Amino acid sequence: VEALCCQARTLNLSTRYLDETILRYAERLTATFDIGLSMAVFCCSGTEANELALRIAKACTGGQGIIVTDFCYHGNSSTIAGLSTAYPGPEGSSANVRSFSPPDLYRLRTGVNAENAADAYAQDVQAALDSFAAEGIRPAAIIVDTLFSVEGLPQLPAGFLEKAVAQVRAAGGIFVADEVQPGFGRTGEAMWGYQLYDLVPDLVTLGKPMGNGHPLAGVVGRPELIGAFGGKANYFNTFGGNPVSCAVGLAVLDVIADEGLVENAQQVGKYMKESLAQLATRHDVIGDVKGCGLFLGVELVKDRTSKAPAPEVTRAVLNGMRERGVLVAATGRRDVVLKIRPPMPFSFEHADLLLATLDETLRAL
Ligand SMILES: Cc1ncc(COP(=O)(O)O)c(C=O)c1O
Repeated sequence: VEALCCQARTLNLSTRYLDETILRYAERLTATFDIGLSMAVFCCSGTEANELALRIAKACTGGQGIIVTDFCYHGNSSTIAGLSTAYPGPEGSSANVRSFSPPDLYRLRTGVNAENAADAYAQDVQAALDSFAAEGIRPAAIIVDTLFSVEGLPQLPAGFLEKAVAQVRAAGGIFVADEVQPGFGRTGEAMWGYQLYDLVPDLVTLGKPMGNGHPLAGVVGRPELIGAFGGKANYFNTFGGNPVSCAVGLAVLDVIADEGLVENAQQVGKYMKESLAQLATRHDVIGDVKGCGLFLGVELVKDRTSKAPAPEVTRAVLNGMRERGVLVAATGRRDVVLKIRPPMPFSFEHADLLLATLDETLRAL
């Protein structure tokens, strides 16, 4: 708030005018990424960031085909709604989109086990590429949320995403990592969700926590891609990258570092995940505990053998928690994964309150 007020009192501009705040922010931000991801473009929402990333992907590959998961959300514009399979809009989905089911070690399809899951499910991505080829559509990109947040935080078999991305790259497409939910240290393991994998994306899209409530979003990526697009497209965004937003972005990076928020996410997240596993020993309705850092999922089932989803129980738990003063949501295709994604300064005391409230709510059912 202090950074925002100070810059707002001093000067605000669109990026048609030069101001060094954007340079300071771009340098600080890109320094948190792997080498090679050294250029940034700023905008105002995750939707805009994904729009821009896909425009860059299409311009640089010459392709039109986009691969997504079959239960994803990437934003609300016409193009992005057309590929957001979790909440299809009235316009329907775009013809240039193919989707695949991400694997979840808790719920593998028949005939697949933990050992062969990465290969088996990567074949679905290959099938999407084959379907593009059959229709003469060149692939432009695969775009995924690196924690598969909307998909319900599935636990992926090691190597799956790496294989899927390698196939897309071999076919001429690029990898766009949507970090709108997982980014800025939430996993507790690293600053970016993609760093959980042996993989560096070509483009990364950012939003939500980037301005800690202020509308700030962006694309970070390989300069040769963003540069080539810039040469063709003359991208302009009136509010994106303005000095006030960049001052906010800088302050967010300062707070994350100064308050040790990534370490906090790691420590409190680990404690919560272990405690939720403990809770599962007392409540049969808990089928699986997933996620990492301060982004955890608790999957509720009618019985552990059949793993039949328990949506009514999930609703009752969400409402029971709310009545007791703790807000959690549900995520995933079956709407039975409790989505525990608290603010980044969440402490051990907060975790204990959440755990005690969940225990009490489950006991009361
Ligand atoms: C993974 C993901 N990508 C993109 C978006 C779109 O962001 P925004 O609402 O800022 O446009 C969202 C929003 O919920 C999201 O969850």
